[in-house]
Amino acid sequence: MILYFSGTGNSLSVARTLAEETGDSLCHMADALPPAGNPGTGEAPVMMPARVIGLVFPVYYNDVPDAVKEFLDKVRFDPSSYIYAAVTCGGSAGNTLSNLDRILQRRGCRLSYGRPFFMIANSTATWKRQVTYDYGRLETARREARNMAAAVRSRTTDRSALRRSLTATVMGSSLSRALMKGFLQPSVNPSACVHCGICVRVCPNHNITEREGRIVLGSHCTQCLACAHWCPHGGIAVHGRVIPKETRYHHPDISLQDMFRR
Ligand SMILES: Cc1cc2nc3c(=O)[nH]c(=O)nc-3n(C[C@H](O)[C@H](O)[C@H](O)COP(=O)(O)O)c2cc1C
Ligand code: SF4
Ligand code: SF4
Repeated sequence: MILYFSGTGNSLSVARTLAEETGDSLCHMADALPPAGNPGTGEAPVMMPARVIGLVFPVYYNDVPDAVKEFLDKVRFDPSSYIYAAVTCGGSAGNTLSNLDRILQRRGCRLSYGRPFFMIANSTATWKRQVTYDYGRLETARREARNMAAAVRSRTTDRSALRRSLTATVMGSSLSRALMKGFLQPSVNPSACVHCGICVRVCPNHNITEREGRIVLGSHCTQCLACAHWCPHGGIAVHGRVIPKETRYHHPDISLQDMFRR
C-alpha cells in the first residue's frame, strides 16, 4: 500500500510510478482514514493491514509536513512491516527522512529505505517574480522512482539517506517555522475569485468552504499551496501576493481531477 500526500502533484507522480512498478495500491493519506465523525470509529488509531507500506509526501521546512505527522498520529503499522519513503522537494530534504524514522520508531517500527527526490519547488513562485522551472528534473525523478521501485520489490534496506544536518535542525525549529509559515499563508483575493469551487475540491485538508457566496479559508491550512497554484483565476494570494499565471506550477502529468478530494 502506497500512502501519499501532495499539493501540486510532484509526490503524486512519484507515488504513481512506484505503484505502477511495484503493482501496489495507491491511496491518499486522508482516504485511508475513516470519514471524520463516522460513528464507532472513536479516536483509536487505525491499523494499516498492509505489510509493505510506502509513504510519499513533500518536504516542508526541511521536515515532515504537519498534515503527514497528524496522519501518522492516527494510524498504526505492524512492527514487522517493510516501510519505505519517498520525499519530494525543491532542493533540500533536510532532516525529513530521519525525522520520519523517529516518528515510526516511537510506534515500534522503522524506515527500511528512504530517499529524497529533487523536483521543483512549488514555494519559490510565492516570492520570486521570475522563476524558470527545470522540467528535466521531473524526468530524472521518474527514472529514480523506477529504480526505487525495483529496490522495493527486492525489499532493499538502505538508510543512508537518513542523515541529519545542523542547518536543517535550525531551519526546522519552531521559531524559524513560525516565521516561514507567515510567508506562505494563503488568503482569498476576492476581486479575482469567480467562485468556480476548484480550490474547495483540491484542498487536501477540507479547509476551504463556500459560505453565502464567499470563499472562506479555515484555520486548518497545511500550506500545501494547492489552492494558490491550481486556481486558474488568481483568486488565492500567498502572503498577500498572487502567483503570476506563468509561474503557477503543477506536475505536468497530474490533472486537476487527480487532485480532487472526496
Ligand atoms: C510549506 C512548504 C515548505 C517547503 N519547504 C521545502 C524545503 O524545506 N525544502 C525544499 O527543498 N523544498 C521545500 N518546499 C517545496 C516542496 O517540497 C516541493 O515543491 C514538493 O515537491 C512539492 O510536492 P507536491 O507537488 O507533491 O505538493 C516547500 C513547499 C512548501 C509548500
Ligand atoms: S479556485 Fe480560485 S476562482 Fe475558483 S473559487 Fe477558488 S479562489 Fe475562487
Ligand atoms: S487552504 Fe490552500 S494551502 Fe491551505 S491546506 Fe488548503 S489547499 Fe493547501
